[in-house]
Amino acid sequence: ADKLPLSGKKVLITAGPTRERIDPVRYVSNYSTGKMGYSLAEAALKMGAEVTLVSGPVTVTAPPNARLISVESASEMYEAVMAEMGSANIIIGTAAVADYKPAEAATQKIKKQDDDMSLAMTRTKDILAEAGKRKSGQILVGFAAETNNVEEYAKKKLVKKNADMIVANDVMKEGAGFGTDTNIVTLYKKDGTSVELPLMSKLQTAEAILHEVARMEAIGANV
Ligand code: PMT
Repeated sequence: ADKLPLSGKKVLITAGPTRERIDPVRYVSNYSTGKMGYSLAEAALKMGAEVTLVSGPVTVTAPPNARLISVESASEMYEAVMAEMGSANIIIGTAAVADYKPAEAATQKIKKQDDDMSLAMTRTKDILAEAGKRKSGQILVGFAAETNNVEEYAKKKLVKKNADMIVANDVMKEGAGFGTDTNIVTLYKKDGTSVELPLMSKLQTAEAILHEVARMEAIGANV
């Protein structure tokens, strides 16, 4: 039988949102459902890879053959990715990771006051950028969810995070981005070329991304 395009490869995928705790009953999060990341896991398995899925809280079901590591916050996701990345050949950051978290998580429920309130937030660590610093031979793929200047921001992320590819979705387009079953993305690669993909299901989008990654792996574009 023909060898599958990703057979023998270990793929590490982050998916879903993170939750940043305000107090025991409240958190800050975003609209990611995990569909894009879980579709990548499913497609990678079909293409013969071994898959580890580091996932924030979602309601979608992980493919049974993926190794699932469930996390809640950006810092838990960071720890899991740092622990796992050494044994991966391909790392794909699909998760919508919080950029800020409450400066302090209250240990008891914050009581309502008559006055307005404000919440002090601090920066989280950038998982993809750190993976970009530490990588040794892995292909690193990031996502960019943008509402404007998509190409410019995606190309900046490519350089800033030392990624080999950025998958940019213009989340203002109908059928792209958070929550939908479809996506519309452009792949920006380190060699300066880009590939524009049409509106497709998230599974088809995942397959197209992984075929491109498999080609890059084959020619050793990962340095
Ligand atoms: O989950 P779905 O509902 O299917 O939606 C899919 C999606 C829209 C979430 C997905 O396609 C997507 O675009 N994910 C990235 C969303 C995002 O937060 O992008 P960003 O531009 O903020 O981050 C850029 C990259 O850095 C991403 O790869 C992100 O995982 C990574 N990042 C960001 C912040 C941080 N602290 N650590 C990171 O690793």
